[in-house]
Amino acid sequence: MDGTLRILAINGSYRDDGITDQAVEAAVQAAQASGAEVEIVLLREHPIEFCLNCRQCTQQPGDAPGKCVHHDGMQALVDKIEQADAYIIASPTNFGAVTAIFKRFMERLVVYAYWPWDKSTPQFRKSNAPQKKAVLISSCAAPGILGRWLYGTHAQLKTTAQTIGAKSVGTLFTGSIAKEPHLRVSQRVREKASALAVKLV
Ligand SMILES: Cc1cc2nc3c(=O)[nH]c(=O)nc-3n(C[C@H](O)[C@H](O)[C@H](O)COP(=O)(O)O)c2cc1C
Repeated sequence: MDGTLRILAINGSYRDDGITDQAVEAAVQAAQASGAEVEIVLLREHPIEFCLNCRQCTQQPGDAPGKCVHHDGMQALVDKIEQADAYIIASPTNFGAVTAIFKRFMERLVVYAYWPWDKSTPQFRKSNAPQKKAVLISSCAAPGILGRWLYGTHAQLKTTAQTIGAKSVGTLFTGSIAKEPHLRVSQRVREKASALAVKLV
């Protein structure tokens, strides 16, 4: 390791170059310009099965994520999460929540819980680990400020960050953007995304 900050961007949008992709891209460019190394994971291109709720991955104690019974792309993604120093976590808001592909990814993060069958609640493996930083990004048709407080998306992105051992240092909820199919995000949104990314570095 050479001291370069490694940022992992996890994006749950379905669309190439949609609003969420553009906001994430602005954040990524700013982080790279500040010297960070950034990898983007587009969940729409990542093979992840649904969680089976079997809880095999939750039975062993310890700080390290448990092993899932599926042999798909999730283990490689968990390895990337473990190796990263900070995160950009993004999903559009659909029906008041993160997208289904983001939720599918989120449920597979149960590997971050120690939850033996005799315990009624899980204990999160990273709850006592030194906190990494995360910025949270969403987009919605409603005005951004309303979207942030009205919908479940923000809480879900925050829970995702906490589960993997990160603390949110800022949120961008870009709204009022669903009136054209190929809208370009405004300079103001790009600047906000850039300012957020710099908080990670
Ligand atoms: C199935 C679906 C559900 C949506 N639900 C909401 C919603 O509940 N609230 C909202 O403000 N916008 C909603 N939207 C609008 C999207 O959040 C918005 O267009 C977003 O920018 C899409 O992200 P993308 O450009 O990255 O694809 C919905 C759009 C779709 C297609």
